[in-house]
Amino acid sequence: MDETDIGEMKLIFATNNRHKLEEVSAVLGEGYELLTPADFGITEDIPETCDTLEGNALQKARYVFDRVAADGRFAVFADDTGLEVAALGGAPGVRSARYAADAGEGSRPDGGGTFDDNNRLLLRNLEGAADRSARFRTVIALILRGDSGRPEEYLFEGRVEGRIIDEYRGSGGFGYDPVFVPEVPGMPEMPDEGDEGDERNGGRGDETRCDAETFAEMSAERKNAISHRGRAVERLANFLKNNIV
Ligand code: IMP
Repeated sequence: MDETDIGEMKLIFATNNRHKLEEVSAVLGEGYELLTPADFGITEDIPETCDTLEGNALQKARYVFDRVAADGRFAVFADDTGLEVAALGGAPGVRSARYAADAGEGSRPDGGGTFDDNNRLLLRNLEGAADRSARFRTVIALILRGDSGRPEEYLFEGRVEGRIIDEYRGSGGFGYDPVFVPEVPGMPEMPDEGDEGDERNGGRGDETRCDAETFAEMSAERKNAISHRGRAVERLANFLKNNIV
């Protein structure tokens, strides 16, 4: 990148999602000037028509890079995220935003689905499922103009394993956060049904995953510290520190 970028690095995050913007700017911290497409008059929905997270992240980053950053003044990155549920063969995955809409269950006038529509359909599709394991996966695509003057593209991934509970808990976060309980490192497995012991934790005398918080019950700091997006952004930040500044 240009020498002019040394100091506070100018980055464009190719998103119109304010929740993602808040999370990413909290994890990146100081040292970056974080801009969005709206700062450049790009207010339309950025197309994401690929069938992989990697493809969509690249598509969104390229869309913005080509329009406003090809001169090398800014690096551009985009995130694409999917919830992959084992019992559903990895669905909704790359279709996570459009899960209810794809099933004709979007309640918006244009047929689009709300977070609630998506969560309701997910819980219905998991009724009776013994395996409720799931993971979030985020892919970040970064594009910057390299020393050769050509665009260079990099991908960073973050994931978090967890499970889908059968109720909604918490009011923080967004999307599937109220139904997703992340696995927290060091936390024991959920007890098998029929284990003896007190009702709260299956009698193991320690905290178990059935007591654990959903992402929507956690503070933003806690979610960012363990989440798919937080991990992907940390990788992005390490790359920028080691390679750019
Ligand atoms: P996108 O295509 O990356 O914008 O995200 C796909 C969908 O996944 C979003 O519409 C949200 O419903 C969901 N999603 C993305 N990130 C998160 C998250 O951190 N928590 C919960 N749901 C999320």
